[in-house]
Amino acid sequence: MSHDLFEAAKAAMAKAYAPYSKFPVGAALRTADGKIYAGANIEVASYPEGWCAETTTLGHYVMGGGGKITEIAVIAERMAKVTPCGGCRQRLAEFAGPDTKLYLCDQTGVVETVRLGDMLPYGFRGDILK
Ligand code: THU
Repeated sequence: MSHDLFEAAKAAMAKAYAPYSKFPVGAALRTADGKIYAGANIEVASYPEGWCAETTTLGHYVMGGGGKITEIAVIAERMAKVTPCGGCRQRLAEFAGPDTKLYLCDQTGVVETVRLGDMLPYGFRGDILK
């Protein structure tokens, strides 16, 4: 991964709105055409109404035109190697294939690289619904 995806995730994390958990998270993804989309978690006083950094990122990706996702990075201020929550694994798998690289980061860069498919074995497939 070129360092710019990590930097985009880290910059997004700095914009997190996480006054309740105080657990800022950032995510970024790159598409085959070279575009980078990023996002942070956004919390709400009615706690279940908040959402994750990966979800913000996917919103930007869809509104930016979508495309093939080639790699994804996630970072949390207070946890080295944060992994996407279960719901975000399903959301990411909606738009990114199982071979997509997912970079788990700390404050300095990538700590571990995993396959998205390995993060969601036997995930629900919506193909039959289309
Ligand atoms: N969070 C994310 O943004 N992404 C994840 O994959 C894990 C959790 C956020 C949600 C909430 O704002 C905070 O981290 C604590 O759960």
